[in-house]
Amino acid sequence: MTLIHSTSEFNAWRKSIVNQTVAFVPTMGALHSGHHSLIAYAAQQCDLVVVSIFVNALQFGDPNDYDKYPRTEQSDYLASVASGANIVFAPQQQDMFPSDFDQYLTPSPLANNYEGKHRPGHFAGVVTVVNRLFDIVQPTVAIFGAKDFQQVAVIRAMSNELHPTVRIVSLETVRDADGLALSSRNARLSTASRLQAQVIPRALQAIANLHEQGETRSHVLKSEGLKILESEQSLLVEYLEIVQKDTLNTVDEARDAVVLFAGVLDDVRLIDNLLLL
Ligand code: PAJ
Repeated sequence: MTLIHSTSEFNAWRKSIVNQTVAFVPTMGALHSGHHSLIAYAAQQCDLVVVSIFVNALQFGDPNDYDKYPRTEQSDYLASVASGANIVFAPQQQDMFPSDFDQYLTPSPLANNYEGKHRPGHFAGVVTVVNRLFDIVQPTVAIFGAKDFQQVAVIRAMSNELHPTVRIVSLETVRDADGLALSSRNARLSTASRLQAQVIPRALQAIANLHEQGETRSHVLKSEGLKILESEQSLLVEYLEIVQKDTLNTVDEARDAVVLFAGVLDDVRLIDNLLLL
């Protein structure tokens, strides 16, 4: 069990691994049970598990948001090991992106809408850092959370092109008892807004229930969701869209679809989604 801070030290460790499989869980730290479920799954998949912790400035539009991002490396390290990590890789900024770094990537068109539209440059930062991490870690399998549904699609597209041997796995969203998707940002919600946030899983679940009863018309499903979301006046809805789960194109008929949500509550931006199969 080792905490590694430099790419040269990591490279030396990676060279020593010859016939063992490596599962990789990239994170930005501030780990919660959602992250731990990915790490525990990784430990079942491969001989060795690498967890990275790197708060990636390239994917933050707002420098203030980057500065405010929680940094809890020591407890993250201990919790990662407890969940099954063998190596925690927490590189320094200059090591990840030295001044002569020139592999800035453009994300696939899957990045164009939803998160990509509301957070310009975000997915370029994500694919650039994940490509860099894949080059260093050389994983057999890389594990992501379906909580960031569009992120997994965009990373998969990048990986298919640049790292075709890496198997990309997406795991189900871990939720609190009241249904709210776990997120490092939830800690920034006040007690009142944490309660108000319950409206998000409630709206998504209502859409899923209606869909299960046979309603496939997207506009009907969407207006049911919006009605519930709008009952919470403090919530600012950025988007609620029903999209085909692979192309991420909006659809009139919800089959093999996913409902994508983003909104702001108490100055905290929250995203969530639910499959409509
Ligand atoms: P971060 O937000 O730390 O998330 C790391 C991984 O945990 C992502 O794959 C994310 O989808 C997953 N995750 C977050 N909340 C989850 C939940 N409630 N249930 C299940 N999985 C969850 O996503 C990033 O970091 C970064 O963009 C990164 C991919 C590391 C690139 O910088």
